[in-house]
Amino acid sequence: MSANILVLPGSLRVGSHNRKLAAEATRILSLTDAVVARLDLSDYPLPIYDGDLETESGVPQNAQLLAQRIAAQDGLLIVSPEYNHSIPPLLKNAIDWTSRVRKVQGRPVQPFKGLVVGLASASSGRFGGMRALEAVRIVMRALGADVITQQCSVPNAATGFDEDGRLADDVARTNLETLVDKLLDTTRSLSRHA
Ligand SMILES: Cc1cc2nc3c(=O)[nH]c(=O)nc-3n(C[C@H](O)[C@H](O)[C@H](O)COP(=O)(O)O)c2cc1C
Repeated sequence: MSANILVLPGSLRVGSHNRKLAAEATRILSLTDAVVARLDLSDYPLPIYDGDLETESGVPQNAQLLAQRIAAQDGLLIVSPEYNHSIPPLLKNAIDWTSRVRKVQGRPVQPFKGLVVGLASASSGRFGGMRALEAVRIVMRALGADVITQQCSVPNAATGFDEDGRLADDVARTNLETLVDKLLDTTRSLSRHA
């Protein structure tokens, strides 16, 4: 059975390096037998998490929809920017709200539990966002995801892509291809929907 893989860029910015990297990962995944989709967090606008808001109004519908979508996946590839050596608020907020969803259509759900997760990042800096990935890794592990060891960081991202959106650097390209391979292999062996 084909694996369902969702690619999640953690930036909404026009010209985002991480959206470019997510697009390239989606292209590579689409060459395999996986069923791949790219998520856009602008389709799921959410307020900043506030416990009082949750108590008064419950978990917003967009968080429930996001949880439902993630719960249907075998694998997730998170492509995250690095903000101050850590996870950017857009992505953390979406994950935090999603982690508060307990039921979807009356059924108990833990959207990240047993989900196979791969991590990638791009940054204009020389570390390629790799410190942010450590933060994302901790968050995903806390939620019970199986985070694969292989990851891909693209440094100097302003010059990291050619005009077709392909990775310009051989090392970065090989890292991304290896990450996609490992994500698919692990998803096939650990799929929570098998
Ligand atoms: C608040 C803030 C903090 C940042 N901190 C870091 C950082 O710690 N390390 C880094 O490599 N880049 C840092 N950057 C630069 C971002 O990685 C860069 O703007 C990147 O292009 C953002 O991702 P995007 O292009 O996908 O939107 C920071 C940017 C912002 C706005």
